[in-house]
Amino acid sequence: MDTKKFCRFSEEEIKTVLKKRMNEHRYEHSLNVAERAVFLAEKNGADAEKARFAGLIHDICKGIPKEEQLEIIKNAGIELDEDTLKSPALWHSVAGAVYCEHELGVTDKDVLNAVRYHTSGRGNMSILEKVVYMADLTSAERNYPDAEYTRNLTDKSLDEGIAYGVRWIASDLEKRGFPKGKDTEALLKEYENVTITE
Ligand SMILES: [Fe+2]
Ligand SMILES: [Fe+2]
Repeated sequence: MDTKKFCRFSEEEIKTVLKKRMNEHRYEHSLNVAERAVFLAEKNGADAEKARFAGLIHDICKGIPKEEQLEIIKNAGIELDEDTLKSPALWHSVAGAVYCEHELGVTDKDVLNAVRYHTSGRGNMSILEKVVYMADLTSAERNYPDAEYTRNLTDKSLDEGIAYGVRWIASDLEKRGFPKGKDTEALLKEYENVTITE
């Protein structure tokens, strides 16, 4: 892939950066999300190259300490709302988008938003955002109890996959006592009438 279309670095350079910033498991996950994002992009009419690139870099800040994630966010002048502050699992997405823009030189807004919203989702996501969101939830190594079901459903219908995925995430957050946050709430609302047919 010619990553220089989207940033200042070659694919090899990006992969070296990723390996430095995350453990082996998360690196494998990143490769799997990139591959899955291409598949879902081709099926659903998103730009497959952008999907591969966004998938590859989506967790670029996941492996660094939480304090560093917050530091990146703060230094970019971003003020997190109360719910996001209470949800450390979301920080790497916000920090990731900043890192991609500032350190990798990514300028494509759709790619940056796909990274920014890959964990929370949000209302009115672009096709690329949806593809990366579901590629992350259904990448090859995912083995949570419903992973296989969610993967097959997403293969059949991206929207049904999202409807199932966001409901699952919302109930999991609730169980664990975390706020859903306005973005996940908006996605949940947007998909409340999507019927899962299988
Ligand atoms: Fe992530
Ligand atoms: Fe991920």
